[in-house]
Amino acid sequence: MSHYDQFAPFYDTVMGDRGDVIDIISDAITHHHPAAKSLLELGCGTGSIMAGFADNFELHGIDQSANMLQIAQHKLPSATLHQGTIAGSELHQQYDVIICVFDTLNHLTDYSDWQKLLASTKKHLCSNGLFIFDMNTIGRLQTLSSIPSFIQDFKTGTMEMIIEPVAANEVIWHVTIQEPAADGAIQVYQERVHEASFPIDQVTAELATRFEVLERFDSNHEQPTDSSDRVYFVCR
Ligand SMILES: C[S@@+](CC[C@H](N)C(=O)[O-])C[C@H]1O[C@@H](n2cnc3c(N)ncnc32)[C@H](O)[C@@H]1O
Repeated sequence: MSHYDQFAPFYDTVMGDRGDVIDIISDAITHHHPAAKSLLELGCGTGSIMAGFADNFELHGIDQSANMLQIAQHKLPSATLHQGTIAGSELHQQYDVIICVFDTLNHLTDYSDWQKLLASTKKHLCSNGLFIFDMNTIGRLQTLSSIPSFIQDFKTGTMEMIIEPVAANEVIWHVTIQEPAADGAIQVYQERVHEASFPIDQVTAELATRFEVLERFDSNHEQPTDSSDRVYFVCR
């Protein structure tokens, strides 16, 4: 089992609507590449973000988790999905738009893997193609790691989240889901999600060696800093 396989059946219920992220990506495409027809999502998970583009795009996704991909394929039968790493897999194709959102890039905890992802993304983009991604900042990871554990009820069970700081720029999310089984026994599912971040100026400088950075903003559509929560980049 790989990371997220345990989490997969609960992921959409627990994470809720991600329409705001879909809107940000749609606006960037409309503004910078309205003719785009194909879209690849790096770390596509259960396909809920890709589903927002199903009417107008040929969809492709890559993820490490077989169980997340199985849900995505059920949701989007015509999408082409690959199981593999987002840090440099060769897909032998180019795409008009490549996205990597909802903290997925932060799941790569070695900076060298961020570099591999950027190099591979450039190779897989058509000329004029767009790369749109987000990242949790170092400040957000530090804020998250200082909050106490929390428990969230969802329709069929409960989720407990403990965020453990492991370095100034790294946290581990310990996720425990409990759900009653048909026989009344409590089933427990556990997931450990490691996230890292790097200074946004370092990331911007790295991007500039391969892309033109068209836009950079935080969730309030303001100039981002390392204390912003999530930062979005739109690159060509
Ligand atoms: C936070 S989820 C986001 C899923 C999806 N983008 C969404 O917003 O619904 C992160 C996803 O990235 C995948 N992932 C994490 N590290 C990965 C890696 N190195 N290679 C491939 N997939 C990875 C996980 O399996 C998970 O599905």
